[in-house]
Amino acid sequence: MSRLTITPEDTPGHPTLRTEDPAKIADALRAINVRFERWHLEAGVSPDAPADDILAAYRPYLDRLMGESGAGTADVIRLRPGNEAYPAMRAKFIDEHTHTEDEVRFFVHGSGNFVLHVEGQVFDVHCTQNDLISVPAHVKHWFDAGEEPSFTVLRVFTDTTGWTPYYTGDAISARFPAA
Ligand SMILES: [Fe+2]
Repeated sequence: MSRLTITPEDTPGHPTLRTEDPAKIADALRAINVRFERWHLEAGVSPDAPADDILAAYRPYLDRLMGESGAGTADVIRLRPGNEAYPAMRAKFIDEHTHTEDEVRFFVHGSGNFVLHVEGQVFDVHCTQNDLISVPAHVKHWFDAGEEPSFTVLRVFTDTTGWTPYYTGDAISARFPAA
């Protein structure tokens, strides 16, 4: 299940809110300008289907999101347990950083944690299948999917140069293990 935990940055392990209610998650994130919603397909689609098939299945949702956000492109990435490149990728994802573009991800399958650091609080969003999250540009965050990642996600973007991470140098993610 999707889950949001909010913890003051100076009291790791002592959250002030923990919820698995998608509506409450969306409300709490909306308050910090983070979009969170759940997309459902009538027919479903296999996470191992060709990327074009997955994109076609979610096209109505993608068109609406792109119309509202101005983003122009979407693609599909998959990570499976045993990926030899993953430890190095994880090390990059897990340090606090920002981007110049919104980081928009939709979980077709699997899970991962987006952790946002806003106004002295840590918002740990455990995203699962059917979750859409949009981390606004310049918002401090990190991502972790644990030691054995398993997910298929859509990425929605305008320009891949916006993915460049700008590291804050804050080691906060070590104090807030997510996955
Ligand atoms: Fe990021």
